[in-house]
Amino acid sequence: MSTLRTSIAGAPIVVTGATGKLGQLIVERLVALKEPVRVFTRRPDVARKLFDESVQVAPGDFGDRRSLDAAVRGTKRLLLLSPISARLVTDQIGVADAAVAAGVERIVKISGSDWTIDPPGNSISGDAHAAVERHLASLPPVAVSLRPNAWMQVSLANTIRQAIANNTVAAPKIEAGVGYIDARDIADVAIHQLLAERVSGRTLNLTGPDIVTARQVAELLSTVLERSVAAVDKAPVPTSHDADFEHRAIAQFVRLIAAGRAAATTDVVRSLLGRPPRSVASFISEHVAAKAALAES
Ligand SMILES: NC(=O)c1ccc[n+]([C@@H]2O[C@H](COP(=O)([O-])OP(=O)(O)OC[C@H]3O[C@@H](n4cnc5c(N)ncnc54)[C@H](OP(=O)(O)O)[C@@H]3O)[C@@H](O)[C@H]2O)c1
Repeated sequence: MSTLRTSIAGAPIVVTGATGKLGQLIVERLVALKEPVRVFTRRPDVARKLFDESVQVAPGDFGDRRSLDAAVRGTKRLLLLSPISARLVTDQIGVADAAVAAGVERIVKISGSDWTIDPPGNSISGDAHAAVERHLASLPPVAVSLRPNAWMQVSLANTIRQAIANNTVAAPKIEAGVGYIDARDIADVAIHQLLAERVSGRTLNLTGPDIVTARQVAELLSTVLERSVAAVDKAPVPTSHDADFEHRAIAQFVRLIAAGRAAATTDVVRSLLGRPPRSVASFISEHVAAKAALAES
């Protein structure tokens, strides 16, 4: 980070989705670097608990343009993140348009995994992120879209929880690999792209260092837990016809992963940060140790 220099002279960096899983990691890093931060949230009390007085809190809702206008006033850089939902396109375009009206110069968007976006038509979530990426490309600010592969802190953490409970790792296809990425690496890249003097304004496909299958996850867990953990094929639970956007999107992720689409790695994290991305093996060791410490306390 020492080579980074901001040219934003005291203007707060606005972070949407700041109280969520990835947003918290991004805000913590900006605060540690003594960058002024303004978080946009429907829950100012939660933001205060998470970040104390270290950040400005802009209360509001993506659907409320006035609150967005107030949140982006005076900012030059924006971190754009919103959850998977039927409103993702409307919400993110609303934030981006308010930011443009306020004179924002750079937008760093947390997008969907590359394999959900390209080729189009396979993922309602990926298609929604792609629509936002296209909109950003038509706007004056430099826009960088980060396309992280599946996060260790979400699907892999869930797998670890299940393995601890019942000694199995269940997946629709246990030989399908995933280039899991640690959310801390996504946050580090987001900080790099927010603070770097210049960015190239393109999409960045972020992955971890290895492609790991469910069978390999079970082997790693067997070693760390010092007991046998089995990898078992398990048919995906069918999605009901009236399932909401998020559940339909997740069902599509499961199918695409089983088809091997997430089995990819890139060198982007290493080339931007000058160090390798965190591995699945170290995430599993750390996660299991943290759970054991919690159980003992
Ligand atoms: N998990 C993965 O493997 C993966 C992979 C690739 C991409 N992604 C992308 O990552 C994003 C999700 O990130 P996450 O898991 O960190 O999110 P998250 O934990 O679900 O947090 C969602 C955030 O959005 C805010 N929010 C929701 N509705 C809002 C509204 N109407 N107005 C203002 N703020 C609102 C929430 O803030 P308040 O509740 O405080 O208002 C919260 O901070 C999605 O876009 C997803 O496509 C995830």
